Amino acid sequence: MAVIRSMIRGVGAHVPQKVMTNNDLSKFLDTSDEWIVERTGIHQRHIAAEGETTADLGAAAARQALIRSGIDPVDIDLIICATATPNRTFPSTAVRIQNMLGVTKGAAFDIQAVCSGFIFAMACADNFLKAGQSRRALVIGAETFSRILDWEDRGTCVLFGDGAGAVVLEATPQHGDRSDRGIISSKLRSDGRYEELLYVDGGPSTTQTIGHLRMNGREVFRHAVQKISSVIEETLLATGYAADEIDLFVPHQANKRILDGIAKKLDVPADRIVMTLDKHGNTSAASIPLALNHAFEQHRISEGKLVLMEAMGGGLTWGALLARW
Ligand code: UT7
Repeated sequence: MAVIRSMIRGVGAHVPQKVMTNNDLSKFLDTSDEWIVERTGIHQRHIAAEGETTADLGAAAARQALIRSGIDPVDIDLIICATATPNRTFPSTAVRIQNMLGVTKGAAFDIQAVCSGFIFAMACADNFLKAGQSRRALVIGAETFSRILDWEDRGTCVLFGDGAGAVVLEATPQHGDRSDRGIISSKLRSDGRYEELLYVDGGPSTTQTIGHLRMNGREVFRHAVQKISSVIEETLLATGYAADEIDLFVPHQANKRILDGIAKKLDVPADRIVMTLDKHGNTSAASIPLALNHAFEQHRISEGKLVLMEAMGGGLTWGALLARW
């Protein structure tokens, strides 16, 4: 039976030029390269320059994805930007990017699911495309977390970085069988009982300030391994694929120990997991498309490959998405 699938036509990414190493951090913070590498796997992160915004990073990533897709920006009729660090409280960062790209048709809006944002945005775009409401979507994950970090809190500021990634999706008729390319399935989950584990202590409606990121790292870690493993298992069960049939796992990059824990639980060999956290740190909604772009540039992703993406973040929110490239 013919079905419409959201085919991934192109991927792109962009990171700020400035690199901050663990040793740079240890010059003003009671930390060390040894501690950060051993506890997280992070070696460095990129930090936006003064005046460089989430929309600037997102638009640059989007331009690269569009060029690689061969699709003209004027033919894009949906832009979804996943971000927790928007340029402004409103309007959305997506409309700023839309304007920067010269797109004037269709809809553009942001999605807020913090580190799970890219999975939520992809699932949302997929549903628009499958429903026939849009034909060609740009899905962006873009963040400037350096703007909301407490640079005196060594438990959080060493973990995050800035960057953006993007993919172009196109509604394409497929056979409705295992050979189908495009997004095959997604599972999204949220549980607001855990809001206090990871949040920003400011906002327009509460403090009228931007606020700083606060996290109970140990508790978030515990939830991450369990919740991500279970949502991956649900996705595999729903699609009939076994873990060993997945060519590439492209996870949200929060902590190498979380990724190792999930790999062990699901019995996935390390060489099937894309790891970019050493270079970028945790870039929240940008981390999966940055990792996708890295894998693409390393020729690890090509036509027909089965790719599984997953994330967990503030909310708590978590989810997984299976696609054939
Ligand atoms: O993307 C959203 C989801 N976020 C995550 O998934 C993050 C999940 N959590 C984690 O990745 C880890 O919990 C952290 C990397 C944040 C922390 O690792 P941990 O092994 O859970 O360390 P901890 O918080 O239990 O701290 C252990 C020790 C403490 O010292 P004491 O109390 O044992 O003396 C901390 O004060 O390490 C200390 N510590 C540091 N030492 C040097 C915490 N941060 C640092 C630091 N440098 N940057």
